[in-house]
Amino acid sequence: MMLIRKSPEILYSEVTPKADYLDRRKFMKGAMATGLLASSVAGVSRLIDPGTEVFADTKLSTVKSPLSTTGEDLTSYQDITHYNNFYEFGTDKGDPARNAGSLKTRPWVVSIEGLVNKPQKIDIDSLMKLHPLEERVYRFRCVEAWSMVIPWVGYSLSELIKQVDPKPEAKYVQFLSLADPSQMPQMRESSISWPYSEGLRMDEAMHPLTLLTFGLYGETLPNQDGAPVRIIVPWKYGFKSAKSIVKIKFVAKQPETTWNDLASNEYGFYSNVNPNVDHPRWSQKTERRIGASLFKQRRTTLMFNGYGDQVASLYNGMDLKKYF
Ligand code: MTE
Repeated sequence: MMLIRKSPEILYSEVTPKADYLDRRKFMKGAMATGLLASSVAGVSRLIDPGTEVFADTKLSTVKSPLSTTGEDLTSYQDITHYNNFYEFGTDKGDPARNAGSLKTRPWVVSIEGLVNKPQKIDIDSLMKLHPLEERVYRFRCVEAWSMVIPWVGYSLSELIKQVDPKPEAKYVQFLSLADPSQMPQMRESSISWPYSEGLRMDEAMHPLTLLTFGLYGETLPNQDGAPVRIIVPWKYGFKSAKSIVKIKFVAKQPETTWNDLASNEYGFYSNVNPNVDHPRWSQKTERRIGASLFKQRRTTLMFNGYGDQVASLYNGMDLKKYF
């Protein structure tokens, strides 16, 4: 994973504020309209690499959430959309932005199945309307020891779970991503056994912080960030947050999960952000805040990524070194 290839650090050398970025997009659209991009003006085609411009620009109407993290600088849209892990589109951090344009996010149906009284296949546009969309700012911490602060858009997964009425035997929820080599040709390049799978214990899935996520920065998710729907679990390492979900399955036993399956000694099922449990090959005590100024880049990693007040009680009595 995260381990096989080292990511190029230079991707972070340039931070573009969201406003500048949007201006650039306007310019791009204007350029397209006037045929500028189609022409072979050498300077322009060097400046704009269309392959890295994968956007979803549908505005979403949102309400502010009281569950937002406050007092932290937001990571720029540029960084959030150009430093990604989405192995279906390649293993380098810049690959998803370059390659995810081939993902078709409409029509899109999410199948909710398994141990529920009301299984259903929900069209993505209906799913988005199931509950008012909130803007929720969360810290996002990757197991690779970098972090961001992201204004996600979505609603608590618990709202959906209540609607499908799980049976008492349902103890875990499994999330399965799309696995379609015709849209994700780079899937074939890695040895991961697709589809990407992640899971949560039922109480974790029901926790109000667990966000069914449709957007960021007030717009639908760009493909590289997991369009059209993903999970965000802010107190766990980023890999728990499955992207481009097509199936949500309620099960009795702990489901197999992609990274745990690949290297169970390195990636546990729980994967709570825990600075006291080092990854076998690196420390988890600190993290690098992507895009932050040099002085603010390196910071101490907080237990449960700083969400301990809200989630620590879920793990009362558990040995979090054993259940890492
Ligand atoms: N979901 C799918 N389907 N495929 C992936 O490769 N990578 C995971 C997670 N969800 C991944 C995925 C990992 S390792 C991380 S750190 C986060 O997505 C990255 O999310 P981001 O690119 O939006 O930062």
